[in-house]
Amino acid sequence: MQQPTGVGTPPPIPASDGGAAISIKGIGKEYTTDAGPVRALLPTDLEIKPREFVVLLGPSGCGKTTLLRMLGGLIAPTEGTITIGDRQLFAEGETQPSREALGSLGFVFQQATLMPWRKIWKNIALPLEVTKVPKKERRQRAEELAGMMGLSDFLEHYPRALSGGMQQRVAIARALIHRPSILLMDEPFGALDAMTRDRMNAMLQQLWMDTGKTIVLVTHSISEAVFLADRIVLLSQRPGRIQDIVNVDFERPRAGEASKDPRFAEIVQYLRRQLGEV
Ligand SMILES: Nc1ncnc2c1ncn2[C@@H]1O[C@H](COP(=O)(O)OP(=O)(O)O)[C@@H](O)[C@H]1O
Ligand SMILES: [Mg+2]
Repeated sequence: MQQPTGVGTPPPIPASDGGAAISIKGIGKEYTTDAGPVRALLPTDLEIKPREFVVLLGPSGCGKTTLLRMLGGLIAPTEGTITIGDRQLFAEGETQPSREALGSLGFVFQQATLMPWRKIWKNIALPLEVTKVPKKERRQRAEELAGMMGLSDFLEHYPRALSGGMQQRVAIARALIHRPSILLMDEPFGALDAMTRDRMNAMLQQLWMDTGKTIVLVTHSISEAVFLADRIVLLSQRPGRIQDIVNVDFERPRAGEASKDPRFAEIVQYLRRQLGEV
């Protein structure tokens, strides 16, 4: 199928010369269950460039979370290798991720999973407590991140005082506290109402532009994918495989009005067709 205008031809996967932020080679996953093996993801190759904003898009159950959790070192691949910068996260057949590579990664889940008994600043600084960073430095870093995420007035509050959107900002601050170069986000705004979600997407775009992080975000929302992504990686129904890669080269920052641009609608339509929704 012809790709619409506003969508560039996907660039060829470059040879790994250490220049990629993330290099995925032959990564696949088969879960072992009582009912037998479940193949969630077929062996997959993908290279993600530093500072790229990549969105993994696909129907429910197609293996998006599986792929992202392997990238985050949270579950081990059945086959293949993952390289983060110049460090291997998983070598072939390895079930334990390399600690050095993990240091480059921050992970944000669909739920904020804050500790209700800890103040906001202590939730943000939690990863530094685990690595035994002195309290003064923890507090200073938490204040910095809170400032960046618009949370400065809430440092002494407890999570229950914050809205869902604010709680997710805390989760993002916590994921950034150890200065990872890569942020992995699994449907981070999926539990929020539509208006909050739009605001969070605009905030995330700004954060990405300001910090130069590499972001890999999972969603099943086509419009969210087109709003945020440099590149959309479309996964097929389970067992997941890459069905298509779509470049989105609208200028930044994109505003809510971007969705009124006919090129935006054209990409959305294209993706809906690819997903079999129309
Ligand atoms: N721990 C698990 N054990 C067995 N099967 C699983 C497990 N986690 C996910 N799956 C299965 O793998 C497939 C992909 O799941 P997932 O990666 O969560 O998809 P998505 O995030 O795209 O909705 C689904 O069919 C799901 O039921
Ligand atoms: Mg999922």
